[in-house]
Amino acid sequence: MRRCTRFTYVVVFLIVCAALDSVINVGQLSVFLRTKLHYAYGPDTGLYSTGFKLRRNISLEYCQAVPDSLEGRLNIDLEATLQSGPPPDLQDVLPGGTWSPKSCIARQRIAIIIPFRDRQKHLDILVYNLVPVLKRQNLSFQVVVVEQYGNKTFNKGRLMNIGFTEARKHDEFDCFIFHDVDLIPEDDRNMYTCSDNPRHMSPAVDKFNYTMLYKSLVGGVLSFRGKHFTKVNGYSNLFWGWGAEDDDMHTRLSASKLSVERPSITIGRYTMIKHDRKDVSKVRLGLLKTSITRYLKDGLNTLEYKLVETRLEKLYTRMIADVGDPP
Ligand code: BGC
Repeated sequence: MRRCTRFTYVVVFLIVCAALDSVINVGQLSVFLRTKLHYAYGPDTGLYSTGFKLRRNISLEYCQAVPDSLEGRLNIDLEATLQSGPPPDLQDVLPGGTWSPKSCIARQRIAIIIPFRDRQKHLDILVYNLVPVLKRQNLSFQVVVVEQYGNKTFNKGRLMNIGFTEARKHDEFDCFIFHDVDLIPEDDRNMYTCSDNPRHMSPAVDKFNYTMLYKSLVGGVLSFRGKHFTKVNGYSNLFWGWGAEDDDMHTRLSASKLSVERPSITIGRYTMIKHDRKDVSKVRLGLLKTSITRYLKDGLNTLEYKLVETRLEKLYTRMIADVGDPP
């Protein structure tokens, strides 16, 4: 009789656990708490080792630096649209475009920052193709689209600085990846993470026959640790219209003695979505001549903007920002 009562207790206990797990997702919650502990205190502190014990108890390890499940060369879909909602394998991405792996602890928390205006179709194609790559790479990430408000000349540098500043209010990111809206990754072995130096992730673009146009090119997709982006004072705020804000960034990197890494051109491959180039800046080459003397007085530390609206969309956070007026 006693044995029977104990059995009933065990069964009831298991049912309560299962119910709790389905309501508050205990597994996800503990991954979240341990990840926070790791990001907050790092591997060498006592507090972290408490987290480590906890982690061992339920046997969750760090994700592999380069997961076995990668596919390599990808079939990219340039016709993708998100009109009927995200595809089934993206249903578990949380509103605002955040996701974390459930079976292991992500090594870094990544903010993907996409400066944007007027190219919704390109944005849909990018997130449709990119988000599955980030998931396969087992990264903890948030996709942040920074849209310029109004219809004055585009200022990509300001938008990227705003993305960095605002993303840091949302989470403690380890790594920031500035991503053109028209570049679609062709190989998922190109890891969307940060290494010890900034990394120019897009050295091989189809439009340029998969070769580097010139040695100092850092445009397209560029990854930064937060401390490095702060060290170079972010992007210049002064480049209105198309061109050269990335060349100015290259000068900032060399002046700050930061070398730039690149993946090999076999995996750092991208397809560029075709579009017309408008608003080419006429003063960009003149401005480039002053990069070195200007960079500490023009950038994150002089950024001014007004955040008009933040919307949590299905696969990204859309921040609409007023960047001010061109001269
Ligand atoms: C522009 C860069 C651009 C590069 C490749 C250069 O002339 O200044 O902004 O990334 O061409 O298109």
